[in-house]
Amino acid sequence: MKDPTLDYNLKDLKKMIVRSSEIIEEWYMKGLRDNKIYRNHTPGEIRDIFDEPLPEKGTDPMKILETIREDVFRTSNFNPSPNYYGYITGGGNHASILAELLKSSLNQNNLKWHSAPANSEMEKIVIRWICDFIAYPPDSAGVLVSGGSVANFLNLAVMRKIMSRENISEEGLYNSIPMTVYVSDQGHSSIDKAIDMLGIGKKYLRKIESDKELRINIKSLEKTIADDRKTGLHPSCIIGIAGTTNNGAVDPLKELGEIAKENGMWYIVDGAYGLPAAGTDLKKELFEGFSMADSLLINPHKWFYVPFEASAVIVKNRQALRDTFSLVPEYLKGGNDENQRDDLMNYNLQLTKDFKALKVWMTFKAYGTERLKAAIENDCRLASYAAEIINKSEDFELLAPVPLSIVCFRYTGRGGEIRNKEQLLEKINSRLPGEIEKDGRIFFAATKIKGKTALRINLTNHRRKKKDIDFLFKVIRDLATGITV
Ligand SMILES: Cc1ncc(COP(=O)(O)O)c(C=O)c1O
Repeated sequence: MKDPTLDYNLKDLKKMIVRSSEIIEEWYMKGLRDNKIYRNHTPGEIRDIFDEPLPEKGTDPMKILETIREDVFRTSNFNPSPNYYGYITGGGNHASILAELLKSSLNQNNLKWHSAPANSEMEKIVIRWICDFIAYPPDSAGVLVSGGSVANFLNLAVMRKIMSRENISEEGLYNSIPMTVYVSDQGHSSIDKAIDMLGIGKKYLRKIESDKELRINIKSLEKTIADDRKTGLHPSCIIGIAGTTNNGAVDPLKELGEIAKENGMWYIVDGAYGLPAAGTDLKKELFEGFSMADSLLINPHKWFYVPFEASAVIVKNRQALRDTFSLVPEYLKGGNDENQRDDLMNYNLQLTKDFKALKVWMTFKAYGTERLKAAIENDCRLASYAAEIINKSEDFELLAPVPLSIVCFRYTGRGGEIRNKEQLLEKINSRLPGEIEKDGRIFFAATKIKGKTALRINLTNHRRKKKDIDFLFKVIRDLATGITV
C-alpha cells in the first residue's frame, strides 16, 4: 500500500520554498518597465500548454515549479508593472506575498473562534484599523469577504433584513410591499445582481440619473423617492458611491445621508474602490458625510494594494450584521462561549474561509498608514498629471472629471483629421484598446461615458511614476496613428 501521507520531507519542502522565492524574485527582476505585460496568446494556445489527462501518478514538485515558472508566469499578465492600467487592480505588495504563503501553512478553519483564535481576533482588529484609516466608528462590526460584489450582496442582505416590515426570514418577501433601492446610473453591476438574487426585483432598483460630474442628481433622487412613496412602495435604501467604477466620481455623500435619515431609509456607501482615499489629507473633503452610512464596503484588494482577494463589509450596528447571518446548528455548537469569544461565522454567509486578515494586517503593519496614504495620494497626483497632459495636448480630450485616480479620455489627433467627427472618433477609439492589447506594452480597457467610447486608465499602483504616464501617451499615439479609418 502507498504511504497515505502527502507531506514532503521538511528539508525538501524548504528547497521548494527557496525555489519559489527565486521564481518570485525573477518575476519582479525581469523589469517592471521593460517587458510586455500582455502576450496575446489565444485561449487554445494556453489550454494546450496545460491540458492533460487527470494525473494518476504524482510529479516531482521541483519539476512542477519549473512548469509554473515557464508556463504560468509566462502566460499571465504582468500586473505589478506600472504599465498595467486595467480595471481597478491594486498592483499587490511584497509583504502580502509572505502572508499568503504563511496563511496556507496555518490552514485555519475560522468559522468558530476556538478553531482559529489568532485569525478570529486579527480579522476584528483589521476591520477596526480600516475604520480608523477612513474615520468610521471603530466599534462597527465587519467581516472580510472575497470581493466588492459579494460585499454589495451582503450589505443589501443586511438592509433587506433590517428594513423589511415583515419577518422575511420566515415568510420570504411574498407578503411584503416592494422595497425600492436608489443608486446613481453609475452604480456597479454587482448591485443589480444582488438586487436580483435577493428577490428585491430589478424593477425596484431606481437608477437615478447622474450629472455632468457623474454624481447622483439629488433633485431626481428626492422626486423619485417621493413618487414611490405616493404610489405605496417602500423606499428602503440609498446607495451612495464613494468612487464610481467608471471615473471615480464621489456622490454628495452628506446630502445622501441626510435624505436617507429624513426618509427613515438605510444608507449604504459603496466605497469598494475609492474609500481608502477618504483617509488622505488630499482627498478626504470629497467624502464628507460618508460616515453617516449604516454600512459600507471597501476593498483592500483595490486601493490598499493587497493582492486578491479581500473586501470588507462594515456595518455600524453590530447586531444588524449578526441578526442577518447568525444561525448556529447543533454541529456548530462546539467549544464554550467564555471570555467573549466571537465567531466569525455569525457575521458572514460563508462558513469556512481563508485567513484573509493576515495579508491585510501585514500590509498595515509593514507599511504603516503614512506610506499607504502617500501611495494613494501619489496615484491621485499622477491621475491629475495625466489629465493635465490631455488638457494641454492637441490630440486627446478628457471625457470625464478626474476626482480620484481614474482617467477617461479619447484620442482626437491625426492633425485635426478626426476632431469633431463623432463617427470617426468612435471608430478609432473603439479600435484602440484592441491595438493596445495586440501591442502588449501597456494594458487597459475601454468604457462608455455618456454614450462616448472612452479610454479608461486606472492608477492604483504604488510603483508608478511620471515617466510611466509619459510612456503611456507615447504608446497610444504610436498606435492611434497606425489605425486606418
Ligand atoms: C464601486 C465598485 N463596487 C463594487 C465593485 C466590485 O468589486 P469586486 O471586483 O471586488 O467584486 C467594484 C469593482 O470595480 C467597484 O468599482
